[in-house]
Amino acid sequence: MATASLKLDDKEYPLPVIVGTEGEKAIDTRKLRAETGYIAYDQGYGNTGSCESAITYLDGDNGVLRHRGYPIDQLAQFSDYVETAYLIIYGELPNPAKRKEFGLLLRKNAAVETQMQKIFEGFPKDAPPMAMLSSIVGSLAAHYPQLATNNFEKDLKTFDLAAAMAISKIRTIGAMIYRYQKGLPYIFPKQELPFCENFLHMMFSEPYKDYVAEPEVAKALNLLLLLHADHEQNCSTSTVRMVGSSAANLFTSLSAGISALSGPLHGGANTAVMQMLQSIHDEGDDGTRFIAAAKSGSKSNRLMGFGHPVYRNFDPRAKIIGKACDDVLKKLGIKDPLLEIAKHLEQAALKDDYFVSRKLYPNVDFYSGIIMRAIGIPTNMFTVIFAIGRAPGEIANWREVAANPKGRIYRPRQVYVGPVKRDYVPMTQRT
Ligand code: ACO
Repeated sequence: MATASLKLDDKEYPLPVIVGTEGEKAIDTRKLRAETGYIAYDQGYGNTGSCESAITYLDGDNGVLRHRGYPIDQLAQFSDYVETAYLIIYGELPNPAKRKEFGLLLRKNAAVETQMQKIFEGFPKDAPPMAMLSSIVGSLAAHYPQLATNNFEKDLKTFDLAAAMAISKIRTIGAMIYRYQKGLPYIFPKQELPFCENFLHMMFSEPYKDYVAEPEVAKALNLLLLLHADHEQNCSTSTVRMVGSSAANLFTSLSAGISALSGPLHGGANTAVMQMLQSIHDEGDDGTRFIAAAKSGSKSNRLMGFGHPVYRNFDPRAKIIGKACDDVLKKLGIKDPLLEIAKHLEQAALKDDYFVSRKLYPNVDFYSGIIMRAIGIPTNMFTVIFAIGRAPGEIANWREVAANPKGRIYRPRQVYVGPVKRDYVPMTQRT
């Protein structure tokens, strides 16, 4: 068993070591401040374990991603989104009875009530869809206060219903945002349709003409959602945990997670990739100029869809999605010039020393936009799809926080670097 100690001046402090089930090691610094007066400084928490979690294992150096022990490539091949959501939330693959029960709960809780529909009307037609999604998901706490009491014990008792409601309604709200913005009448969910087919029905049906999803289209959407279902302590999931740690209910915590996901360095990257590919196409460039600009080091010129805060080898989801992208487009008979540009960009970057030396590889967002485009989803809705997919992971993480009897409110520290104490200057004496 490894041990650790910290030497400060002449004094040595032993620090306990925690080892995870996959051998991940951590130095337990929980008592550091109390015993030494020091805190650990780790801007952005890149080296900080904020929790113990049994949901997802990620080894960024070796491109490993497993949910509850199951490798992502096996889930992508054999499972579907709803089953994977169950696995992530409840810890085990469901048996047939549990799968049926979970599916039924999702189907029964798909609709958005008439009173809630009025909220949509308060938004401008061109409001950012993620801003709408975050607000409307937050409003679930107001519409279902019995499931959102801000009391861990009570909220855990109604967790199964709240979780199913969140997964199912986030999808319905997503489709309604799309239709609201297009000025189209809402299409209500159909109980008999599976999860992804139902979403596509609500997005693309016409009042007297049901949209019937091609099996390839439903399969591609299923895969996209499954690949986004959880990803360990990323910015949005950690936000859910942070908010949840104050005993805030599931819906409120999810709304905060959706807001965190909206940024272009996180969930918004899929939109940014598409905008990048489109402008390369419009400018008639082959990507060379974008690559050159990306190497300047400026944050605003980054090659979107490249690099990842934890994967330093490859993003296993990007491998699966890159292949799925080819398959879907072939099956649907679509030839997308943006796919050609993406491939060219990828090949060029993978040969370029700037990207190779910094271990910058395509991430899940690099190809996901091309699949969504093929399905008919507009670019401004891409991050909403990501948010729908990510709900199970966020829900599972909220539950871990709520169910932890030893849990504490999340409260990081800081190193203050502002002005030292000074006296108030009256207005008349200020220059
Ligand atoms: N294009 C060009 N250069 C890059 C890129 C990129 N996409 N990503 C990182 N770099 C460079 C940085 O400028 C830095 O260079 P330097 O060492 O010369 O200063 C080096 O690579 C390391 O960059 P960091 O900022 O330390 O990388 P970090 O791990 O903090 O950031 C991030 C990861 C935010 C994902 C970054 O790679 C990025 O901005 N990528 C583009 C946006 C994107 O695709 N985001 C999606 C992430 S996946 C997800 O959330 C689903």
